[in-house]
This record gives sequence, structure tokens and C-alpha cells, in this order.
Amino acid sequence: MQAWVIGNWKQNPATLQAAKTLLADINTELKSADLAACRLMVVPSLVHVSSLQQQETAIAIGVQDISAHSAETGAFTGDCSAAQVRDAGATWVLVGHSERRQYYGEDEATLYQKIKNALSQQLGVIFCVGETKEQYDSEQTFSVLASQLTVIEQLLAESNEESLAERLIIAYEPVWAIGTGKVPTVEEVASTHTHIKAVIQGYAGAEAALGEPCVLYGGSVNAANAAQFAQADSVNGALVGGAALQADSFFAIAAAFSTAKSNS
Ligand code: PGA
Repeated sequence: MQAWVIGNWKQNPATLQAAKTLLADINTELKSADLAACRLMVVPSLVHVSSLQQQETAIAIGVQDISAHSAETGAFTGDCSAAQVRDAGATWVLVGHSERRQYYGEDEATLYQKIKNALSQQLGVIFCVGETKEQYDSEQTFSVLASQLTVIEQLLAESNEESLAERLIIAYEPVWAIGTGKVPTVEEVASTHTHIKAVIQGYAGAEAALGEPCVLYGGSVNAANAAQFAQADSVNGALVGGAALQADSFFAIAAAFSTAKSNS
């Protein structure tokens, strides 16, 4: 399986010009290297997507959110639909990021609706899961993940999507590792990824629709620690926040994954 390295730009940078420069810098790095075993995606602010997708790039562009209420149009002030996102040139959407769960109270029902809307408009979905520090400390990680992943179980049970393999990515992001500089050990990440894959593969219809799920690790991934995560077979790439805001560190992470996965 080819790796994915995805840059979640969150509410950065401050201007369209800076966003264009960042993408141009990543493009320049990309031209001078061989990333045969790694695909790249950036997930900028929605307001920058249309302009960025006009920049010639082999990098996929995603968005950070879509409306749960309607896949197309409607009276939902402030929302942007999957159809509008698709029309703007993005092809993927992040769903279930812990910041959305925490600050916007997005629950499983909302997340399920967003995924359905995304898939109905041919967008791919990066579905984020992960435990808080308290849950980690009290060894509840697997039970928290099991409950968050029921959204995928429901999707497989109710959806008539023939193939999700190219359109569904899971990102395991321990909430306590996001933006903190703290990371779980590689062994912990590898075993949690193996667990996530097994849970999903246990759902009815998973084998036919998904095969082996693509599971990325996210949370304080940087140029210095990427190679160690990349070496774990069950880690299929990285979802990167802070280190994705500089072309050189984002690119170093991508190179680490490409090298590790082409050797495995
Ligand atoms: P971080 O963020 O790499 O800055 O920890 C990751 C994320 O929020 O996806």
C-alpha cells in the first residue's frame, strides 16, 4: 500500500499569498525528489482552496470540514456542502478531528452524516479517531476507539458504496499528542494500528469494501521522528499539523515514509 502524508494546515496561514507560497515551496521540493511510495495531500483553509487548486500540483487538496446537513444546497448559514467543496476543486475532507469533536461538539451521528455527504459527492474521507490523556492513562484507548469506529461499522452496514478502499483513510491521533510534542512509542502506535485494522476488518462487508484499511498516525509527527513511525508496517502514513506548515519539514516526513515503504 502506498503511504499518505497529509498536511492539516488548520487555521493557517493568515493570507492567501502565504498559502500559495507554502504550496509552491512544497511543489519545488517535490520536483527534485522521488516520492514513489508516498502520496501527498494538503488540507488548507476552505477559503484558500479554489485559488490553491489552480496552482499546478500533483498534491491532492482536501478541506477540514463539510456540512452535515446537506450534501448540496440549503438554508444552513455558515455551512459549506460536499458538492460545493468538490466544485471548488478539493477531493478529500477531514472528518472527526479531535478539535472538531472538542470545540464544536461533533458527535458520532453528525460525523456519520458528514461522511455520507462526502461520499455522495465523490469526496474521499480522512476519519480521525483517538483517545484523550485521561482515557490513555486509564487504559481505555481500545474501548474509546471501538466506540468511535462504530461510525465506520454503520457506514459499511448501510452504505451501498462498492469500494471505499481509495476513498477512506483512518487517522489515529491520540488527543494528548496533538500539538504537544509528546508522542506514544512506536510500539504503542503499531499495536493500536493493528487493533484498529482488526476492528474494522471484523465489520460485516469490510473485506469486500475496504480490504486492508489505510491507517495514518497523527500527533506531533516531525522531521526527526517520522522515520521511526514509518518503519512500522501497520502505519500507512502520517497526518501532520505544525510540521506541515514548513515545506522542508513536511517534505522530510514524506521522504521518510517513501523510503521506508519502498523498502518494505
Ligand atoms: P500536530 O497536529 O502534528 O501539530 O500535532 C496533528 C493534527 O492535528 O492533525
